[in-house]
Amino acid sequence: MRFLGDILQMLFGFSLPEQAAENVHLVDDLYNVIMLLSIVGFIGLMAVMTYFIIRYHRSVNNKSAYIPHNLTAELIWTIIPTIIFVGIAIWGIIAFNKMETVPSNAYKINVTGKQWMWEFTYKRDNLEVNVADVMYVPVNVPVVLEMTATDVLHSFYVPSFRIKRDTVPGMKTRVNFTATKKGDFKIFCTEFCGTAHSKMRGIVRVVSQERFDQWLNREVKEANISDPVELGLRVYSRNCATCHSTGTNTIIGPGLQGLWGSERAFENADKLVADAEYIRESIISPNTKIVKGYPAKMNSFAGLLTEKEIDHIIEFIKTLK
Ligand code: CUA
Repeated sequence: MRFLGDILQMLFGFSLPEQAAENVHLVDDLYNVIMLLSIVGFIGLMAVMTYFIIRYHRSVNNKSAYIPHNLTAELIWTIIPTIIFVGIAIWGIIAFNKMETVPSNAYKINVTGKQWMWEFTYKRDNLEVNVADVMYVPVNVPVVLEMTATDVLHSFYVPSFRIKRDTVPGMKTRVNFTATKKGDFKIFCTEFCGTAHSKMRGIVRVVSQERFDQWLNREVKEANISDPVELGLRVYSRNCATCHSTGTNTIIGPGLQGLWGSERAFENADKLVADAEYIRESIISPNTKIVKGYPAKMNSFAGLLTEKEIDHIIEFIKTLK
């Protein structure tokens, strides 16, 4: 049976995406058989039509015979198509059931569709991690996706796995697959969901179990750092490091070493001791107090950093003695 499927796949499957999951042949076999039936049907119909055009041309048969009905012909054109169509329907139901059966050992990933990105949530030991747009999965391991959406309908589609399912706000939908090839495979949103719908794409990255565990361990660790100083360092590296060094040297603005608790002199001759309030103000409203000898070049970070992130930066600055 697989052998026949492979031959049909060679003949008609050239236009299909790469096969990279366990159940893809269920979809492709059905597609290829319907393709074959359509081609045979089309050629047969055209052949008979051509034959009739010539055989019963007006120049040969001027007057048509009177035929009220023909039981044999009627039975043939009723029974054969019925068998074919009901057969396709039953085959489709069987294939559908097979694809929908979630193996009991399936690895669960939560998927959230939102305008306009895919978010993947992994859980490990009561800790969870959210990643966007690239979904890591181990090869040859059954995976079940529990999906929802936050705003409008989206539809999660991985052509190479032959899976496609809507994600619906307030509802859980699921789809499962077992990736059989390592590599990157495209995810599309295949339901029009707003202006950036066509940009709502992602990648399934299929890797070895070992590599997957490494990746997940690292992500979970990263996402669950609770030390405020460590978090502050991260916020600093992303937002402040291009202008403020962690030493005393000047990049553009003053270096941060020794800032906490020191006396600051400003362009307008005021002075004060650097505390949390001062650092917060310098981030939110940098031009209120300009440190003597420095340009008024910094832009406000209001709305770009959360209150928590500012607290973390303050904790980090405290450690720069
Ligand atoms: Cu989301 Cu289209």
